[in-house]
Amino acid sequence: MRSVNIGICGLGTVGAGVYNVLGRNSKQINSRANCDLVISQVGARRDNPNCDTNGTDVSRDIFDVAKNPDIDIVVELIGGTDVAHKLVMTALENGKHVVTANKALIAQHGMEIFAAAEARGLIVAYEAAVAGGIPIIKALREGLSGNRINWLAGIINGTTNFILSEMDSKGREFADVLTEAQEKGYAEADPTFDVEGIDAAHKLVIMTSLAFGMPLSLDGIYTDGITKLEPQDVSYARELGYAIKHLGITRQTGQGVELRVHPTLVPESCLIAGVNDVSNAVMVNADAVGTTLFYGPGAGSEPTASSVLADIVDVARTMGAGADSWVPALGCNTTALQTQPIMAIQDIETSFYIRFSALDKPGVLSDITGIMANAGISIEAIIQKEQPAGEDYVNVIILTNVTKEKLLDAAVEHIEQLETVRGSVTFIRVEHLDQ
Ligand SMILES: NC(=O)c1ccc[n+]([C@@H]2O[C@H](COP(=O)([O-])OP(=O)(O)OC[C@H]3O[C@@H](n4cnc5c(N)ncnc54)[C@H](OP(=O)(O)O)[C@@H]3O)[C@@H](O)[C@H]2O)c1
Repeated sequence: MRSVNIGICGLGTVGAGVYNVLGRNSKQINSRANCDLVISQVGARRDNPNCDTNGTDVSRDIFDVAKNPDIDIVVELIGGTDVAHKLVMTALENGKHVVTANKALIAQHGMEIFAAAEARGLIVAYEAAVAGGIPIIKALREGLSGNRINWLAGIINGTTNFILSEMDSKGREFADVLTEAQEKGYAEADPTFDVEGIDAAHKLVIMTSLAFGMPLSLDGIYTDGITKLEPQDVSYARELGYAIKHLGITRQTGQGVELRVHPTLVPESCLIAGVNDVSNAVMVNADAVGTTLFYGPGAGSEPTASSVLADIVDVARTMGAGADSWVPALGCNTTALQTQPIMAIQDIETSFYIRFSALDKPGVLSDITGIMANAGISIEAIIQKEQPAGEDYVNVIILTNVTKEKLLDAAVEHIEQLETVRGSVTFIRVEHLDQ
């Protein structure tokens, strides 16, 4: 059998997973790849105690790997965007195929990287960049290639899903669960990318590009995290029959593409509402197949390695036949991608959960329903919670029917001006994910 030489750059959580799983499952993996996959060099600043690289050439300079004339596939697992960008471009300039798990790199520099790869007849594969161990990129790139995709919605960040699951099942505060997530290693020391939705935005942009044949771009994406969510909203949502999930949503509409990341109320009856802890899931709705759900571990050393190895097998198999025989990484060649307008969040149509604190006296609710009616918003449910002892104010929760967000914004502004309403109005978008 021919040999295909692999160079792994970065021997951290994922790098060690790839090294170990390839060593453990080499017989099966080689037979699927129809070649001997050999890790001929590793680029790592230091050794990793979880990985015994004894017998493998280890360089302290990752660029040695990108330039090594014997290497066929460079596997970028260092993370970040600056050095990783230089590394991937150097690997391509040196005629290497690239496999990466780096969503930030693909979302920010993907167009330049894919153009460079195409010009040289090389492949850049990135299955592990979205939803860790779930083969969602392969599903979008190949498995659903006979469909017109209508929308997709995903829980694509394990840290935020873990935090929301704990807030939901145990009534805990956001900050308290975040500390535990950091202690357990689910969240980074600086958790901003996760809890502010930036990591999910990177992954959503990658899936949107594949789903709708659009260039990779973060322009116009609406991104909101989970830092402002309060346990009482999670619990009121449950009383109404909904779970709150942090979703990345993209939808093809007649007015453009919706591209948004935010906390969302999802009916309990929807499968994705039952996806808890660090698990990820992506629902895809397409014209021929209908709705499909892809579920599994969104992170972790070996789950992520599973996706990296699938890419390595794919690339190694295709190397004999030429890059053209691979379904392209963006669903089509970069020159065939088409930009579409991204809809402003104010023009999105959806239902809303709103909560505010109102004086408990006659006429207040009718003022509020009047404001909603004047704005053209119809109400699906309204609940007034019992007032705590000694309190004059009660929590009022309203579920609206589908409306344009700009109408809801105007109604919220009006409600906040009422003398009988205290503080600001909390609102969360609702998605039924049923069509
Ligand atoms: N962890 C997951 O579950 C997961 C899931 C999906 C995707 N990913 C993606 O996979 C990639 C790797 O993540 P990870 O969790 O494995 O990160 P990690 O544990 O921090 O590992 C990164 C490794 O790269 C090394 N490195 C960074 N810059 C380097 C440089 N200039 N030269 C040599 N080595 C360098 C680091 O070395 P030092 O320790 O010396 O800094 C570290 O060993 C990231 O893009 C991440 O987004 C991770």
